[in-house]
Amino acid sequence: MGGRTEDAAWDPGQYGRFGDERGRPFHDLMARVPNDSPRLVVDLGCGPGGLTRSLAGRWPGARIIGVDSSAEMLERARALDSDSRIEWVQARIEDWDAVAAGEPVEVIVSNAALQWVPTHRRLIPAWIERLAPGGTFAMQVPANFAAPSHRLMREVAARHPRAGELWPGLDRAATVADPEAYAALLLEVTPTVDVWATTYLHVLDADPQGRHPVLEWVRGTGLRPVLGVLTGAEEREAFLGDYERELEKAYPRRAFGVLFPFARTFAVARAAAT
Ligand SMILES: C[S@@+](CC[C@H](N)C(=O)[O-])C[C@H]1O[C@@H](n2cnc3c(N)ncnc32)[C@H](O)[C@@H]1O
Repeated sequence: MGGRTEDAAWDPGQYGRFGDERGRPFHDLMARVPNDSPRLVVDLGCGPGGLTRSLAGRWPGARIIGVDSSAEMLERARALDSDSRIEWVQARIEDWDAVAAGEPVEVIVSNAALQWVPTHRRLIPAWIERLAPGGTFAMQVPANFAAPSHRLMREVAARHPRAGELWPGLDRAATVADPEAYAALLLEVTPTVDVWATTYLHVLDADPQGRHPVLEWVRGTGLRPVLGVLTGAEEREAFLGDYERELEKAYPRRAFGVLFPFARTFAVARAAAT
C-alpha cells in the first residue's frame, strides 16, 4: 500500500469532549510512579496540557516540560498555563533529545501518545538508560485496535472507493505491542518493571437526536487519519454516516447511554537508584 497519509490536525476541543474518561488512565498510571520530588519531569505527547499541569500540582518544585508535535494542541496548552509554569516544546517524540534538557530527566510520562509513534519500542530503552538514578518511565497506550470501534472503521474504509489512501492511516495496530512484549522490552533494561492492562467500561451520554457518542470519541483521535484524506464535506459525511450505522449496531443507545469498553496497556519501569 502507499505511504503514510497526512492526518487531520488535532482538535483540542473535540479531544477534550471526553476529558474525564481520557484523564482517568493518566491518573491511574501516575499513581504507580513513586518519585517524591523529581527535579525534571517530561510529558511526551502532552496534548492540550491539562494533565501535564496536574503534574505541577503533585510536584511543585519540579521543572516540567511538555513535548508535542501539534501546534494546535500546544496553543491550547499555553492558553491554559496562564502562569507559564510548564515549558512547552514543539517536537516529534521521535526527535526528542533528553540531553537537550540540560540535566537528567527523572520522570518521563507518555499518556495515550506512543501509539502514534511507530518506532517507540526502539526509543524506550535509550530513554530509560538516560534517566536520572531512581528515575521512572511511565506509559499508557490504547489496546483497542481489535474493538468494534476500530475494526468497523477499517471495514468501512476497506469498502470505500479511496480504500488504498485510507488504509495507511488506519494500520496502527502493528504499532502497539501486547503487555508481555512491553514487559520483556523493559526488563531487558531494568529489573523494576510493572506492566498491567485494564478495560474501562465507559458510559457515554447519548443524545437520541445527536451523533453516536463513539463516533464523537474517535473523531478526536483514531478517525483523524480518515478525516485527513476525506476532506470534501460530501464524501466525509458519507463515510461518517456509513460508519455510524455500524456503530449503532455494535454500541446500541440505551436509556442510560452507550456502554463503551476501552482496553488500555500500562507500563512503568524504574532505573536503578545509583
Ligand atoms: C491522544 S492525545 C494524548 C494527549 C495527552 N497525553 C493526554 O493524555 O490527554 C495524543 C497526542 O500525541 C501527540 N502526538 C502524536 N504523534 C506525535 C509525535 N510523533 N510526536 C509528538 N507528539 C505526537 C498528538 O499531537 C496529541 O497531542
